[in-house]
Amino acid sequence: MNVLAREPAIKVQKLKDHVGAIITGVDLTKPMDKATFDTVYDALLENVAVAIRGNILTPAQYQATAEQFGELMEDQNRLYLVEGHPLISVLSNRHKASDGKPAKVANNATWHTDHTNQEYPPKFTMLYAVELPDSGGGTAVCNMRAAYESLPEEKRRQIVDMKTENTLISSARMEGANPDIVKAQKASTKPPTIQPLVRTHPDTGTKAIWFHKAKTERIIGMEPQETQDFLEDLLQTAIRPEFHFVHEWQVGDMLIIDNRSAMHKAGFDFDRSQHRHLRRILVRGDRPS
Ligand SMILES: [Fe+2]
Repeated sequence: MNVLAREPAIKVQKLKDHVGAIITGVDLTKPMDKATFDTVYDALLENVAVAIRGNILTPAQYQATAEQFGELMEDQNRLYLVEGHPLISVLSNRHKASDGKPAKVANNATWHTDHTNQEYPPKFTMLYAVELPDSGGGTAVCNMRAAYESLPEEKRRQIVDMKTENTLISSARMEGANPDIVKAQKASTKPPTIQPLVRTHPDTGTKAIWFHKAKTERIIGMEPQETQDFLEDLLQTAIRPEFHFVHEWQVGDMLIIDNRSAMHKAGFDFDRSQHRHLRRILVRGDRPS
């Protein structure tokens, strides 16, 4: 082999024992070969979230990379899409709601997973950094498998078979929420989607706590507000500093989150006069069980 033509070696740098890794030496402007893909995929399962660093990608290249991980699905928020790429949505602090006011994104600033109100929610959430503030604005990811396993046995037994009812937004969370989402929920005739509160990873068989508080109308058997309080208490108990990390973005990072064993939250600790601009792609998953 011509040594000069050899590609840089793939390197996986773990950030914490339980969560997070940075991967370098992968050229995403072309399809990953099987060995490279397997290395990335294994690192993703082990570390719950990985960031592939250092690729300046067109939307088409970003989408082609995402497609290597499975079938893509539409973002249920159709308001902010990359032009000509309906499967890529835009996350920006410069979005406006239909009332002309800055769009509220507070629900993304607390621990959640995406699209729990869909029967087949995304197994992977992918984020790609286009433009970033000078500091802050990191994305936090928590290993909810470790969080579940750390609970006292009695607590695990209490929650393991709980089911949640999921809608676009919980009735207990409508006050002060994005008016477009509230309007869409009030007009919706779709029955709530029933999901497990603790899901089993289809590849590894491990269990993880999994919910979106703002989309949880109720845990079956509880009232809506009681449900919100119960879930908040569960987060306080289960999420420990050693289980989560904040991804400090660099332009050209592609962060992949394995939603089957993670929850995440966006960081809003940055100068809002600066632009934080990410592109999101969702990869469809199985029916959670
Ligand atoms: Fe999210």
